[in-house]
Amino acid sequence: MASAASSTAPAITPGIKQGVAPLRAGHGTSFFLRRLHSLTGIIPVGAFLFEHILISNATAISGPEAYARQVSFLANLPLVFFLELFGIWLPIAYHALYGFYIWYRGDGNVVEYPWSGNWMYTAQRWTGGIAFIYIVWHTWTMRFTGVDLHMYPAASFGKVQAEVFQPGLFLFYVVGLVAASWHFAYGIWLFCAKWGIVPGERARKRFLVVCICFFFLLTGVGLASLATFRSRPLQPIDSSAPAMTLVLPAKVQPVEGR
Ligand code: HEM
Repeated sequence: MASAASSTAPAITPGIKQGVAPLRAGHGTSFFLRRLHSLTGIIPVGAFLFEHILISNATAISGPEAYARQVSFLANLPLVFFLELFGIWLPIAYHALYGFYIWYRGDGNVVEYPWSGNWMYTAQRWTGGIAFIYIVWHTWTMRFTGVDLHMYPAASFGKVQAEVFQPGLFLFYVVGLVAASWHFAYGIWLFCAKWGIVPGERARKRFLVVCICFFFLLTGVGLASLATFRSRPLQPIDSSAPAMTLVLPAKVQPVEGR
């Protein structure tokens, strides 16, 4: 695998400001595929990650019932299978596979990233790789094996607990969370630099601070959710649990005695 493309990096001309190269037609690999890779990182993959950490998983902080209601809400969205297929799985698969291809090719180079140590370039690739391993495992265990949470949302809290109470898996959750959060947060910065949304060196430096704050927000909320799973009493993972009593909004719950 090509390393951080140091071998292809042109010499840095003194006095020329470094930055992230904009996406240009005919620059490197196919312009369209490159743009699509960049765009899918934000929409829908990034938007999904935002929802998953800051909305859905954050409801776990309010307890098992709130979490089950959220899982049930998502599971009952119209055409949920097609939403998952076209809104999550295929875009992630494309972004990931093309991301590995970019990594392998060593596209981009030292000059195109702003720090001389160039660790941001390397971190973007490794965090993508780690996130990929985590996402494949997490999707397999949560969505495709064990209790079907779309059928039995009440089992969701307990199913996550069964994993995060194991020290090795808990560590894996933390590493996956930090990697995906960094990759997305720094990815927003990269995206805005490449598409010309944040032009100018000063604006980019300030925007980088915003993106780093966003990384801490994602990681902090994710860790708070994980801490809640570990701090609550173990919930049953019972596929026969009467989950649907949990999904009714309070105002339509049957009133006792009527
Ligand atoms: C958690 C899911 C993921 C999200 C939310 C995400 C998001 C992003 C975003 C927003 C960007 C910046 C777009 C740009 O460079 O213009 C990006 C870049 C990148 N992503 Fe991902 N990504 C994810 C997973 C992955 C995976 C699994 C890989 C596989 C290695 C990967 C590889 C890359 C690479 C190599 C870049 C940098 C491209 C460049 O420097 O030109 N990503 N990602």
